[in-house]
Amino acid sequence: MLVTRGSGRLFDVETGCELAPEIAEIPWDRAATELAGYPDYMTKEIHEQPATLRRIAATSRHHVRQLAALIGQARDVFVIGCGTAGHAALAEQYLLARIAEHRVTFATASEFQYLQDFVTRGSLVVALSQSGETIDVIDAVRAARGRGASIAAVVNVEGSTLWRFADHAVPLMAGPERCVLSTKTFAAKLAILMLTAYELARQGDVGCACIINAADEIERLLAGDRRDLIRRIADEISTRDHLFVIGRGPSYPLALETALKVKEVSYVHAEGFAGGELKHGVIALIEPGTPCLVLAPRDETHDDILAGAMQVKARGAMLIGVSPEPHEAFDYHIAVADLGPATAIVNAVPGQVLGYYLALLRGHDPDKPRNLAKSVTVK
Ligand code: G6P
Repeated sequence: MLVTRGSGRLFDVETGCELAPEIAEIPWDRAATELAGYPDYMTKEIHEQPATLRRIAATSRHHVRQLAALIGQARDVFVIGCGTAGHAALAEQYLLARIAEHRVTFATASEFQYLQDFVTRGSLVVALSQSGETIDVIDAVRAARGRGASIAAVVNVEGSTLWRFADHAVPLMAGPERCVLSTKTFAAKLAILMLTAYELARQGDVGCACIINAADEIERLLAGDRRDLIRRIADEISTRDHLFVIGRGPSYPLALETALKVKEVSYVHAEGFAGGELKHGVIALIEPGTPCLVLAPRDETHDDILAGAMQVKARGAMLIGVSPEPHEAFDYHIAVADLGPATAIVNAVPGQVLGYYLALLRGHDPDKPRNLAKSVTVK
């Protein structure tokens, strides 16, 4: 690009020919990029989640209906993403199965190239990305289109590479996310994907009500005693080397995401596991006092996940339960309302807050963790 005073001209690097760019105006609220009284962007963005969810419930129906129709018509559907977006993609596999009895295949975007043989004309690839610039995602959708697939994208940054590339793009409308860690855009992705599942099940209104309930519960969680409780838990475990997180079914992606939030920002080694996998290896790592966070919503996973929790408790683990009701095995209980499938959106928040306080206690900048970039655009 040749930039001169008052103008900019665009050229093709290979041919040298001048290009005629398509000019699109991106609405950008400058105030949204400022701290607005919060101590850091991570805190600000965690607190923006209720507003983001309400915005989605109020304005996303049209986009979501189109995405649901594409998913319904496709011969097969792959949902991909990296990092936090990958966890949202995995969550979509459970949400669509549970709410709409619809099968999609999850793949980590960087692994998708090894599954591309199954992508054909009639396939749909749904790519999730906050930035819309992550190279593993861009490479995956380019290759999929080369095999005849259609591309749908759920993206926060409108006008990004993925946004422009997709046949159908759904905006997350979460506003700028400046902290390297994704928080509000994870909630936004889950909300869009949950609404999509409800639209596919022809229950869009139920989906919107769920999202609003999640927004209300997150607001209560962040305002009240529960945040102080999480700060006390962080205090107790801040010198520990490991944290294990377990969840089953729809809570399994949440266990992965909780662990990712904690390790990215606090550098405490944290691992998320499917609760049923405990006895297949993980249990060997449990020592007296090892903190273990248990996601136990009131759903079909409830009894089995608590049985697993009892097993680690019997080996001396310190249990932090995230559940609507207390349990005798919990050393700490973070109460989260039972909101049906929308509980997944709320259950991401204790991990965000725990990671944040652990980072502060260990003397780290929550907005700029070492070695990480907000968007990874090179291989
Ligand atoms: C980086 C960030 C992660 C993020 C991932 C995907 O690795 O550190 O926090 O989840 O990229 O980013 P995207 O912009 O594609 O959602």
